Amino acid sequence: MDINQTSANPDLGGIHPYRDTVRIVPDSAGLERAGALLRSGGLVGFPTETVYGLGADATQATAIAALYAAKGRPQFNPLIAHIATLAQARAEGIFNATALKLAERFWPGPLTLVVPRQPDGTVCDLACAGLASIGLRLPSHPIARYLIAKAGRPIAAPSANRSGHISPTTPDHVWDDLNTRIDAVLEGYASPVGVESTIIACLEDRPVILRHGGITREMIADCLGHPIAEPDHTGNSNKPLAPGMLDSHYAPNAKVRLEAQSVGMGEAVLLLGPDKPAGMDETTPRLNLSPRGDLTEAAANLYAYLRRLDRPDISGIAVMPIPDHDLGAAINDRLRRAAAPRP
Ligand code: TXA
Ligand code: MG
Repeated sequence: MDINQTSANPDLGGIHPYRDTVRIVPDSAGLERAGALLRSGGLVGFPTETVYGLGADATQATAIAALYAAKGRPQFNPLIAHIATLAQARAEGIFNATALKLAERFWPGPLTLVVPRQPDGTVCDLACAGLASIGLRLPSHPIARYLIAKAGRPIAAPSANRSGHISPTTPDHVWDDLNTRIDAVLEGYASPVGVESTIIACLEDRPVILRHGGITREMIADCLGHPIAEPDHTGNSNKPLAPGMLDSHYAPNAKVRLEAQSVGMGEAVLLLGPDKPAGMDETTPRLNLSPRGDLTEAAANLYAYLRRLDRPDISGIAVMPIPDHDLGAAINDRLRRAAAPRP
């Protein structure tokens, strides 16, 4: 890892060390190399089934500090620790009966559980942003699992984008955002789920969903035998929220307009299904998340299509209504944040 040079980071107002970013083919030699980079405190982008993650050794505070700097992420925002087995998860967090039930049903897979930290857990305070709880996730992606097992310790991995930007679903997306800021990117295929993991807090008797994601509320209700408590975005409740759920997030440069029934002058359109908004003609830039209206396919395409429509020559992105069931809940959540007023 070459961190000799430093370069100012004008858009984020901070300093991040220059790094020679390499692209690594995830064969056995490549995974060995990536695992060694992580153990030595390096920053490695890698594929998961949800989005690409930016991995760092969760037990090394210096590696975690470098990760926050590379992303330009506020340090009060805790990271998810990725683990390879349920036993490893239980060494870091205290699982109540509900947490265990959810882990057994949905791991490996796109679910993060927020549980109380084990007093003798190995994840550093900085990765947990000093909280008494920890977010744990056991991904199903074979490259991710192999890499975490190779590293031999919990791997903190936020989405591999600069803070506030659109999450990456391909190695090229990671490269575009983080080249010269991280040590390596493992070159896998496009992430199949396409939106981040669902986050559920199991801190009290009643579990609470903190972020919609790859495991749908319908699947969770089926597992628990009752609907799960939903997040409250009004700010009027004392329910916990993931601190990272800042209002503006996942944002392209272009202005995003939701529930569009018609296209405005110069706007690009994000479609779902066969319907078209009024005023759309053959000159309107457009992409269809899923021409047959399939929400799973739409989630997989969401971030890549937002990036592709985000061109300097458009006046904004008009998004057609998305049904709010199944993966539509996660899609709508991300779109609301992309459309939120920017700070
Ligand atoms: O699918 C995913 O979860 C991806 C892939 C790479 O695994 N990771 C991801 O990480 O989305 P990130 O850092 O972009 O989002 C993590 C979210 C943040 O909103 C953070 O506030 C929340 O998880 N979080 C982490 N630990 C928490 C805790 N102890 N309590 C509440 N929220 C927590
Ligand atoms: Mg993120």
